[in-house]
Amino acid sequence: MNEQARAVLRTNDRGGYTVPTARLYPFQWNWDSAFVAMGFATFDPSRAWDELDHLIKGQWEDGLIPQIIFHAESDDYFPGPEVWGIERSPKTTGITQPPVAATAARFLFERDGDRGRLSRVYPGLLAYHRWFRAARDPQGTGLVATLHPWETGMDNSPAWDGPMSRVPTSTTTVIRRRDTGHIDPAMRPRAEDYQRFIHLVDTYREAGWEPSRMWEVAPFKVADVGTNAILLRAERDLLALAEVVGSPAERVEIAGRIAGLEKGIASLWRPELGQFAGRDLISGEALAVGSSAGFLPLFAGAATPGQVVEMAGVLKRWSQLVEVLVPSTAPDAVQFEPLRYWRGPVWAVVNWMIAEGFADAGDAETAALIRGQTRGMIEKSGFVEYFDPRDGAGAGGATFSWTAAIWLLLA
Ligand code: DGY
Repeated sequence: MNEQARAVLRTNDRGGYTVPTARLYPFQWNWDSAFVAMGFATFDPSRAWDELDHLIKGQWEDGLIPQIIFHAESDDYFPGPEVWGIERSPKTTGITQPPVAATAARFLFERDGDRGRLSRVYPGLLAYHRWFRAARDPQGTGLVATLHPWETGMDNSPAWDGPMSRVPTSTTTVIRRRDTGHIDPAMRPRAEDYQRFIHLVDTYREAGWEPSRMWEVAPFKVADVGTNAILLRAERDLLALAEVVGSPAERVEIAGRIAGLEKGIASLWRPELGQFAGRDLISGEALAVGSSAGFLPLFAGAATPGQVVEMAGVLKRWSQLVEVLVPSTAPDAVQFEPLRYWRGPVWAVVNWMIAEGFADAGDAETAALIRGQTRGMIEKSGFVEYFDPRDGAGAGGATFSWTAAIWLLLA
């Protein structure tokens, strides 16, 4: 299995960057790449740093590291560069994704101690975190906003149903989906979801991808618990790296953002769920749907001991309803759909983060349970994109880079 996992990463390597999987996702994706870098670090440290270098090649002057970097051309994916309408080289999208990159950089550095490689990526990572604060928390609330469900990485999570219902289904772009030609449509977002996804892309393209204009016109603006937790974890990891290659002023700056995020995430605890949940920043309402993202503050070290116990209890309850933890949507929620992308399936990368969080919080038993089930589902179904929580059967795309990377991290 270890050999096969390495082969998946090698096969998806396009020369310094890795595609999530051939055809369905033929470019470099932001958070996929960070997990892939950690996977490579287990057997080829230099290649691991290349992955982060290529990610930073797509960075904008204002610090944004985009969701997708279109290093090469492909007809296999919609919406491609022509829909985003961004004239850059390499071409990119104009939104971001959960910022795992600094966490990956720390992981790499702690393994090989390569200060030179670290020094090359550190300025880009610092600029990226500054961008989050400036572009996505202009009022300094402590929580960053996501302006498109694609930025959360959890595209069609039921958490977005309420906020997305306000987004019109009209588009100026003609929708020509490719994903449903590669994958069973029952495992993908619905047509109406895509109309709204593309309405948002049209809106921001018309705003010139300028952060303050996007902020003003955004019909979708949520404080996603997953993104904020991953960012808090990444800020802590960046602070550790700043001890090595940063300045005292940078350390003070990063510590300030950490304090803001800690306060913001604490306000997202939902006692009725026994979990954290995001907030709709337009209506002010809590996005109170149980989800795998609701455990991610553990990964950020942002849960109190009592909250850790409560969340372990929620998982125990879920484990009576499904065979494999952690379903992306609470299995007792009416919105739970075990095979539809982020509405139910289990994702190995999310499991890895949750297990790390429980372990760091001192709950080794829950961590071991999640890690064991993650290995079990991959052994059973291979390096697929996501898994059916009822039996661990494979779903979505095959030979997936980040699932192979997680296998290597758990090995
Ligand atoms: C997709 O196109 O399905 C991706 O999730 C966007 O990042």
